[in-house]
Amino acid sequence: MGQAPATRAPFISLEGGEGSGKSTQIRYLNDSLQALGKPVLTTREPGGAPGAEEIRALLVQGAPGRWDGLTETLLHFAARRDHLVKTVNPARMAGRWVVSDRFADSTMAYQGFGQKLGPEIITRLYDLVVGADGPDLTLVLDLPVEIGLRRAVGRGGVEDRYERMGRDFHERLRQAYLAIAKAAPERCVIVDASGSETAIASQILAIVTDRLLS
Ligand code: TMP
Repeated sequence: MGQAPATRAPFISLEGGEGSGKSTQIRYLNDSLQALGKPVLTTREPGGAPGAEEIRALLVQGAPGRWDGLTETLLHFAARRDHLVKTVNPARMAGRWVVSDRFADSTMAYQGFGQKLGPEIITRLYDLVVGADGPDLTLVLDLPVEIGLRRAVGRGGVEDRYERMGRDFHERLRQAYLAIAKAAPERCVIVDASGSETAIASQILAIVTDRLLS
């Protein structure tokens, strides 16, 4: 889980529960970084590479109970490996900043705590699959479950498998995200996602500037 070598461009992940506004904030951050002359690649998990996008469909569609917790975790890490090898690492080596909508903290929060697999298996798989290639900075968008789920359900669509997992599940993952961020302050910053889009975007840009541009 070490630091990226100086030759690689930065890697930023945005994390949070359903409807926390990650996609909107990634658009703002992409625009701001481009305006500063930084080449940026925005991507997402599960997905972000052709093979990983195929695995995504297995994960985000269908009945909430279609996988046991470990199978589901292995699918997320298989998708993540493909994403890292095909998309994230090559972009960083070519000098492009990578901004990803979710990364491995999602597996810790959703499968480790939401689905109660526990943190040990996730940590072991992280070391095997990600190693030193993880994000330099992670922004955790925090929002009350009620508000996030209302927004997410309002969007509709077929990718609703996790949205249907029940209120307790979503409460557990909110608390997990807060704990993950507090345990790794050198990498993670919690952002209150209940304000206006533009206010949150300014806050995120200030954090990125402070951590990666100064
Ligand atoms: P999205 O809705 O943010 O695109 O993410 C797809 C869903 O996948 C979302 O409900 C969270 C879930 N997910 C996990 O359960 N574990 C993971 O490791 C990742 C990356 C996403």
